[in-house]
Amino acid sequence: MAKILAVGIATLDIINTVDSYPSEDTEVRALSQRKVRGGNATNTLVVLSQLGHQCHWAGVLIDEPDSAIIQQELTQFNIDSSACRVITDGKMPTSYISVSQETGSRSIVHFRDCPEFSFTDFEKIDLTLFDWIHFEGRNIDQTKLMLHYLAEHYPSIPCSLEIEKPRADIESLFSLPSILLFSQNYAVAHHRKTAQELLNSLPKGIVASCTWGNQGAWAINKEQNLFHSKTYDPDNVVDTLGAGDTFNAAFIDGLLNKLELSQALTKACELAGRKCGQQGLTNLVRK
Ligand code: FRU
Repeated sequence: MAKILAVGIATLDIINTVDSYPSEDTEVRALSQRKVRGGNATNTLVVLSQLGHQCHWAGVLIDEPDSAIIQQELTQFNIDSSACRVITDGKMPTSYISVSQETGSRSIVHFRDCPEFSFTDFEKIDLTLFDWIHFEGRNIDQTKLMLHYLAEHYPSIPCSLEIEKPRADIESLFSLPSILLFSQNYAVAHHRKTAQELLNSLPKGIVASCTWGNQGAWAINKEQNLFHSKTYDPDNVVDTLGAGDTFNAAFIDGLLNKLELSQALTKACELAGRKCGQQGLTNLVRK
């Protein structure tokens, strides 16, 4: 069991399951609807908690009616939110999501009126408690300060950085964490045709992974050796929402358990595949 801190967001996810994704300017009836907690950092923590770790979330929590669902689920998974900044103005980030029953794909419209977690908030946390710190690749200027602070004061705490979306200046963070977790979305936005092309473009010495949909995922070690894992497809793709966050959690868990990079990659693809075969993240890990 490790103590893990994740810095990033929690959201309210309003998820409509639809027969198939609607075309523009049409009206469709949802087959079902659920309201749950989402957000990359807290999704990753929910999976890490099921993998047996003690999880802490650092983000912004707005005291408004929609935060009740979020707080209740964090409590359910024993996720400590005492490092959060709690404010009263604004709205918890909210995602309006359509999951297509035909393909299992998810399309997201996201709204936020919520400040980002700042370096000043981060500095107040007793970081000596943690064995691993995970960051979402957002809020770049403040995240850069946090990563520099860690490198200077706590160089022995390993940390991971998720690079899911292209963002201005995000590349300035690449040399700071112990491992970078790239998505296909980021790679494609940078005109990379394959995960290998993206990973090979990184400076020598960076450890990183990159997922690539149904082709699986790749990882690169410090010596620039590449490893590949296939996907572990479920019989039926039910829901891909949070599959990337699950991959990240299982990969971090593998590295904390001192697995080889290639083994951690395979474990991450296995758990992400299992996630796609079920709705949501609850009961993902079978003991
Ligand atoms: C899935 C997810 C959702 C959330 C959205 C935020 O990866 O974290 O739970 O609404 O992405 O970008």
